[in-house]
Amino acid sequence: MIQTISPARAVEGMVTLPGDKSISHRYGMLGAIAEGTTTVANYSTGADCQSTLGAMAALGAKIERRDGRVVIQGGALREPADDLDAGNSGSTIRMLSGILAAQPFTSRIGGDESLSRRPMQRIIAPLTQMGARIEARDGKFPPLTIHGGELHGIDYTLPVASAQVKSCVLLAGIFAKGDTIVREPVRTRDHTEIALSEFGADLEVERRVIMLHEGARLTGRELSVPGDLSSAAFFLVAALLMPEADLVIHGVGLNPTRSALLDFLMSMGASIKVLDLNQTGGEVVGDLRVRASKVTGGLIEGALTAALIDEIPALAVLGAASSGGLTVRDASELRVKETDRIATIAANFECMGLKIETSPDGFRIPGGQKFHAARIDSAGDHRIAMAFSVAALAADGPCQIQGAEAADVSFPEFFSTLREIAG
Ligand code: S3P
Repeated sequence: MIQTISPARAVEGMVTLPGDKSISHRYGMLGAIAEGTTTVANYSTGADCQSTLGAMAALGAKIERRDGRVVIQGGALREPADDLDAGNSGSTIRMLSGILAAQPFTSRIGGDESLSRRPMQRIIAPLTQMGARIEARDGKFPPLTIHGGELHGIDYTLPVASAQVKSCVLLAGIFAKGDTIVREPVRTRDHTEIALSEFGADLEVERRVIMLHEGARLTGRELSVPGDLSSAAFFLVAALLMPEADLVIHGVGLNPTRSALLDFLMSMGASIKVLDLNQTGGEVVGDLRVRASKVTGGLIEGALTAALIDEIPALAVLGAASSGGLTVRDASELRVKETDRIATIAANFECMGLKIETSPDGFRIPGGQKFHAARIDSAGDHRIAMAFSVAALAADGPCQIQGAEAADVSFPEFFSTLREIAG
C-alpha cells in the first residue's frame, strides 16, 4: 500500500496513542498463565500484540474483547494443535519461548520472512542451560521447536543488552526449580519486572541484577496499558521538524527505563513539558506537550543507544534537520531488527537527497540538511515507514511511502492520526 504525504508547516492538536507494545505483550502472556481473569484496557491495537494474543489463545487461554478491553481467562497451558505464529514479532517469539520451554509438551513457533532472519541463539543458550531442548533452523533462526519440560533456575549474565532476552529467562524462571537471576550489562526496559510483581511474583531488583524467587504464583489482574512512548517519538519528531507546532500527546508511558528519549530531545533543545504524572500497574504515565523548537545536534552511544534503540529511525530524521547533526555508535543491534535499520535508514536518506555515513555499528548524519520529495520504501519495517512519513512532512513536495501498511505492526492508526495533526 502506498500513502502519499504532503508537506506541512505546522502540527497541532491532541493525540492519544495505542497501548504500549512492550507492556501489552507482557500483560497478554502473563494474563494467560496467571490463575483467574485478567482484564486489560488500552491493549495495543498493533499486529504484533495480536500475534501474542493469538498464540496464547492457541495455547488454551480464553481471550475475548469486552467494551474495548481484552479479557483473558488464564491457567495451565495446553499443547497447541498447530504451529504458533509470531508474525513479525520478535518480542512474541523470544519472550513466549521462555514460557514454552517450561511446558510439558513440544511446540513449534515461527513467523514471517523478516522474523525468520532474526537471531534466536540469544534465547536458545540460556533456555538450554535451564534444561530445555530447542531446535532452530541452522541452529539459530526461527522456526523453533521447543521440547518443554522441567527447568531449573540459573544465574545468567546477558551477553547483549536485550529486554526480550531478560524477559525470556524470567518468564521461564516462573516455572523453574530454584531462583533465577539475570544480570544485565546495561539497564534495559523493566516492564517484565514490574508486571511480574503486579501479578504476584516474588522478585528482587537491584539496578542491573534481577532475582526471581522460585514458586511464583501469578493471579489475574485489572490493568491499563499506557500509551506507547516509542510511537509518541514520531509525533515528537514531527513537531520538532515544523516551524509551527503545539501538540499534546495524552497518556503516554514514561517508565524511567524508556524515557531517555525525552531527556535526549530536551538536551538537543526541544521544548517538551511533562504534565499530569500518574501511575498505573506500577508504570508511570503522563501527558506530553511539545512545541516548535530549534534543535542542535546529538550523540547516541553506550548505554544511551540501548535506551533509545527503537527511536533511532525517528531521531535520524530529526538529526538531518538539526543544526549539528546526529552521531549514533554502539548500535550493531540495529542491524538485526525488523530490517537492518542502518541500511534501511541509509537507503531512504539517499532517496531524499540526504547525507549519511554508515559504519558497522552506527552512522553519522550532518545537520542542516534539506529534505527532497521522494518515493520511500519501508522495506516492510513499521518504524522505517513511520519515521520517513514524518520526514515527508518536511520535504519540498509530496512523498510516496511504499509499504506503508508496515505501520500496522505497532500503530494501525498512525496515518489517520498524522493527518489529523498535520492537516
Ligand atoms: C523490546 C525490547 C527491545 C525493543 C523491542 C521491544 C521489549 O528489543 O527493540 O522493540 O519489549 O522487550 P531487544 O530486547 O532485542 O533489544
